[in-house]
Amino acid sequence: MYLSVGIHIAFHSTKTDKLLNILNLVYRKDLIMKKLVLFFLTFTSILVFAQDIPSEYVGSKKCKICHSKAEVGSQYSLWEAGPHAKSLETLKTDAAKAIAKKMGLKEAPENSDACLKCHVTGWGDASGYQLTVDPLDKRAVTTNETLASVGCESCHGAGSLYKSKKDMVAIADGSVKGETLGLVTIKAETCTVCHNAKSPTYKPFVFADRVKEIAHPAPGK
Ligand code: HEC
Ligand code: HEC
Ligand code: HEC
Ligand code: HEC
Repeated sequence: MYLSVGIHIAFHSTKTDKLLNILNLVYRKDLIMKKLVLFFLTFTSILVFAQDIPSEYVGSKKCKICHSKAEVGSQYSLWEAGPHAKSLETLKTDAAKAIAKKMGLKEAPENSDACLKCHVTGWGDASGYQLTVDPLDKRAVTTNETLASVGCESCHGAGSLYKSKKDMVAIADGSVKGETLGLVTIKAETCTVCHNAKSPTYKPFVFADRVKEIAHPAPGK
């Protein structure tokens, strides 16, 4: 632009004028192209960012950091003492082995897809419980240990997007909808993905009754 104006003042012949007109046109076209490219880039990046970032499982120990004190309701210790915290250990018992034998399973129950799908957190998900993790990857090992049970996220949903203090407070005060960050609104179906007749030890499941057995409310609720 400046260059073109500069030349314009310096040489004032009709030939250069014509040339400059063409140059200006080319320049304007170029500008339009640039704007188009910019628009396209903005548009695609909006598309990319609007796409769902998948929630990942983080393990119950991450929730423990903020949900263990009595003032907030001791959710972690209530869960730890409840029926879900030892669900992988249960698969190593003689009772489990007997069930597996009767069903004709080839693997041990604690290694079998047929049992793990209801006895750990996030089975089948890339960020969920894994049968094998790189033993040198200390972080992966620790996370996997904290997924080795029916943990917080089995009911509340994978926590990577909602676990920050800022987001948790915003969800609790209602300014952010929990579901937009992966926090599940719990209903009977949240439980019956596991508490159903496919469980070899199935006991009829009445949500309203069973939910009382695992209660861990915040004080005053
Ligand atoms: C950095 C601290 C922190 C971490 C980590 C954290 N939370 Fe929270 N959570 C909070 C706070 C603070 C609240 C709001 C308490 C209040 O004001 O009632 C909350 C509220 C909640 C609520 C209630 C939301 C509502 O609708 O009122 C649930 C459920 C919850 N957390 C589950 C979890 C789970 C599961 C994890 C682990 C994946 C987790 N939290 C990790 C701090 C945390
Ligand atoms: C990911 C699977 C899974 C989900 C989801 C799940 N549970 Fe369970 N639940 C289990 C398993 C496995 C056991 C048995 C654990 C053991 O004995 O080691 C169990 C045991 C229980 C028990 C004690 C045994 C019994 O059946 O009386 C109660 C109560 C219970 N769950 C309630 C619930 C409620 C309420 C929900 C939903 C809010 C729920 N569970 C969601 C897998 C699940
Ligand atoms: C569809 C989900 C599901 C599958 C699959 C599953 N379990 Fe369970 N398991 C449960 C639930 C839920 C409970 C809690 C009691 C109940 O309602 O069945 C449980 C409880 C148990 C118990 C405790 C005994 C009891 O009566 O509470 C044992 C042992 C067990 N399961 C072994 C196994 C074995 C072994 C396998 C694989 C062959 C397996 N489970 C597959 C959901 C499942
Ligand atoms: C078996 C399913 C299940 C598991 C496992 C579980 N919760 Fe919950 N949680 C519930 C249900 C049901 C409620 C009742 C309120 C609701 O519907 O959200 C609840 C409520 C809460 C609340 C809200 C309390 C309130 O009154 O506002 C917090 C916080 C919470 N859970 C944290 C946790 C943490 C942390 C863990 C793991 C240490 C955990 N939960 C494990 C099912 C579960």
